[in-house]
Amino acid sequence: MVKHENFKTCDQSGFCKRNRQFADAAAATSSWTSPYALDPASLKFKDGQLSGTILKSLAEGQDQVVLPLTITFLESGVARVSLDEEKRKKGDIVLRGDSKARKERYDETASWALVGGLEPAKGAALSEKVETGYTKVYYGAGGKHEAVIRHSPFGIEFKRDGESQIQFNERGLLNMEHWRPKIEKPVDEKEGEEEKKEEEKPEEPKGEDESTWWDESFGGNTDSKPRGPEAVALDISFPGYEHVFGIPEHATSLSLKTTRGGEGNYNEPYRLYNADVFEYEMDSPMTLYGAIPFMQAHRKGSTVGVFWMNAAETWIDIVKSKTTANPLSLGTKGHTDTQTHWISESGIMDVFVFLGPTPQDLARQYGELTGFTAMPQSFAIAYHQCRWNYVTDQDVMDIDRKFDKHKIPYDVIWLDIEYTHEKKYFTWDPLAFVNPKKMHKQLNKRDRKLVAIIDPHIKNTENYPVVEELKKKDLAVKNKEGNQYEGWCWPGSSYWVDCFNPAAIAWWKTLFKYDSFKGTGPNTFIWNDMNEPSVFNGPETTMPKDNIHHGGWEHRDVHNLNGMTFHNATYEAMLERKKGEIRRPFVLTRSFYSGSQRSAAMWTGDNLAEWSHLEASLPMVLNQGISGFPFAGADVGGFFGNPSKELLTRWYQAGIYYPFFRGHAHIDTRRREPYVPGSPYTEIITQALRLRYQLLPAWYTAFHEAATTGAPIIRPNFYIHPEDENGFAVDDQLYVGSTGLLAKPVTKESADSVSVYIADDQPYYDYFDYTVYKGAGHHTVPAPLEKIPLLMQGGHIIPRRDRPRRSSSLMKFDPFTLVVVLDKDGNAEGTIYVDDGETFEYQQGGYIHRRFSFDGSKGFLTSVNIGTKGTKTDAYAKAMAKVRVEKVIVVGAPKEWKGKKEVVVSEEGAKESARRKKAGFEFHEASGKSAAWAVVRDPKVAIGKGWRIDFS
Ligand code: NOJ
Repeated sequence: MVKHENFKTCDQSGFCKRNRQFADAAAATSSWTSPYALDPASLKFKDGQLSGTILKSLAEGQDQVVLPLTITFLESGVARVSLDEEKRKKGDIVLRGDSKARKERYDETASWALVGGLEPAKGAALSEKVETGYTKVYYGAGGKHEAVIRHSPFGIEFKRDGESQIQFNERGLLNMEHWRPKIEKPVDEKEGEEEKKEEEKPEEPKGEDESTWWDESFGGNTDSKPRGPEAVALDISFPGYEHVFGIPEHATSLSLKTTRGGEGNYNEPYRLYNADVFEYEMDSPMTLYGAIPFMQAHRKGSTVGVFWMNAAETWIDIVKSKTTANPLSLGTKGHTDTQTHWISESGIMDVFVFLGPTPQDLARQYGELTGFTAMPQSFAIAYHQCRWNYVTDQDVMDIDRKFDKHKIPYDVIWLDIEYTHEKKYFTWDPLAFVNPKKMHKQLNKRDRKLVAIIDPHIKNTENYPVVEELKKKDLAVKNKEGNQYEGWCWPGSSYWVDCFNPAAIAWWKTLFKYDSFKGTGPNTFIWNDMNEPSVFNGPETTMPKDNIHHGGWEHRDVHNLNGMTFHNATYEAMLERKKGEIRRPFVLTRSFYSGSQRSAAMWTGDNLAEWSHLEASLPMVLNQGISGFPFAGADVGGFFGNPSKELLTRWYQAGIYYPFFRGHAHIDTRRREPYVPGSPYTEIITQALRLRYQLLPAWYTAFHEAATTGAPIIRPNFYIHPEDENGFAVDDQLYVGSTGLLAKPVTKESADSVSVYIADDQPYYDYFDYTVYKGAGHHTVPAPLEKIPLLMQGGHIIPRRDRPRRSSSLMKFDPFTLVVVLDKDGNAEGTIYVDDGETFEYQQGGYIHRRFSFDGSKGFLTSVNIGTKGTKTDAYAKAMAKVRVEKVIVVGAPKEWKGKKEVVVSEEGAKESARRKKAGFEFHEASGKSAAWAVVRDPKVAIGKGWRIDFS
């Protein structure tokens, strides 16, 4: 189990403890007022930006602390609030010891996290009505958003349509720990000091604790703090919101829990401090490998959110307060408020405020800022087979053959760290991987790929050109003395490449060229692991916080960005492996931050082969989706331990719904490739894999939506049904993109049914036998081992490819099937997006994007273009000209179709003679609980063309 003692609790993390004490002191003092006030004389409003100065009052006789504030109103309707500290900003402080660190508060997170969305709002305007003590700004489309800035104590209330949505510093917990020199006291005077302090008014508000201001020890490591205490904290309240989601990565429920005790709640805040947590535990606010400090609050009719853009260690307390309905006062409805408290160790305060009002608005606006998920190559969303380790090139080729022998589809085989020569990345073990080229060649026969691991620790050894260059070029992270930092990881003594350094990125790129990383080719892709970074002998298994990165920034300031800088560099390297050969890279990362979605996929790290971990993977992957990083999955089968055959089978049946779908296992586990468990498990797992492959067109379309709108790929109930209060906390079932496919994976041992929650009054049909489920509420759906509980919501058209193949690339020119699932009014709609699945030509219009609509009243199905023409459109259309729709299935078919034998098909651009051709039609009557359905056989219409099928 997880070693709790290796990781800090809030109490053991000085700044967290101090800020919680601050919050407690504020709550306990009835006359509490926040010591921060905006100086009205300093206020300026220009080009959508309000700037001014906040003054923090200290004890009598001490100067006020000057904190420059800017509030920027963006064209997108988002507001950004940034607060710095003047003294540090000017470098007007003295570092303790002989530290080589920078003096400022870190303010470069934006340069890693943001890629757009920063256009200031033209329409933002100060309110004409002047109210003493307040400044009001109207912004957002139609001026519907309002920021009401209270001067003293400083606070902001964000309103939409006049209604309060988000409040800053409402509880008075804003706390920017200002710089102060350490007053070194002579040793003999120290005695009696405590008493003296009691008498004198403490300099900091009550509750502050000086013991962790200047240094801090944990687990035998001492963190020197050259800049003293420098935390930044703020309370953010969501009045009227009971549910908050987001802030991955934690093994917790989708709807976040309260963190200050009480039954079923946590006692610890949610922590964001990227870490290699061995055998992590379930239902916990403990930190994991990645951090996205984006939180959204949801209630019926409204979604709002905040993005706390800080890369230092961060803790978030959540409390909820319920107001019950007052029976004596008509119209006073009961409601719940959620109050949060954000605490970061260092850096400026930089917060984005989103006022929705829909989950889709938040996804888009957050995506405009941090980027949308990269459109992956099509193979990357098929099945990946991994283990630590496939031990030789012969082993790899043998696995590859076995998949074929058992007719099990797969696309990618993975190599973990043992492929290297003594853990030296960019080398092959000369005895085990004798002929990597030949291995790649065999994989290539079925267009399969290989992913090789490359970690950020570089072995400190002789005769290893990579480490020699790293040292010579001085590209490693430094220790506090300014020397290259040496620590311990898989290879033993190692250095860490510092990807905050542009020179390090430039060098990193050279290492992946085919003639540098010999034995690799166009079908080799990369896995970046251990990039939190994991350091076996470091504090909390990572780097000392006083290590120094490029630019003089302390590791403390940038820790949560570290993983992203590394996988970004790998992504860039993949683009330049060979001149003129430009393919979409595939990089898997364990550590991440806001923005990682632009260049990588992620997985949830070292889970266990236990039912509880299978169960927890669903809220975790769903949460990634609504947090802007949807290309996510968990190790299928569980990393540690040996799953039972039943668990393995159920995990595959669930894993087909992870956007990133990979089986993986620890080095000490038994082999468990899908053909290993034998009958009937192997057949059942194969069926699950086939289902994923059959639905790849729908998955690819969902990825395209994510890549263009920020929408999650798998979606929780609240996202699809934002008005359905009963379903807000549902996190054990999911929708696939906009397809209406509703899956409820089995996560309990020996289950033979599941209870599916239906939110609306549409008919839902079983995917396989068209059993109809109708009515909001829970429905029991049979789920014996061989059955995957999957429903189709009425109203959608789902694209599939039904021909079983050995890899997804072999399906490239296969015909499509369209499943038209009629809603209660007899209509349906859906889209498909297809491109070459490899290059960037889709960016020049090299794709097919169509909308299918079935109009029940008119009785026809149409396909219309929704793409935008570009220079590559025609060439791609030509390449796809022969790819057709070979079947149309209509589920919930009207009984009037009984007896019909044919339908009429017309296609754009067809010759006169073929303009109205006939296609075969079969009708199947409803029977028992199963709906009626119909099939159109081979309408001979092209996927890339406009056409119409007449059923009337
Ligand atoms: C830790 C990763 O989480 C795991 O997936 C991998 O197998 C090991 N490192 C070895 O590289």
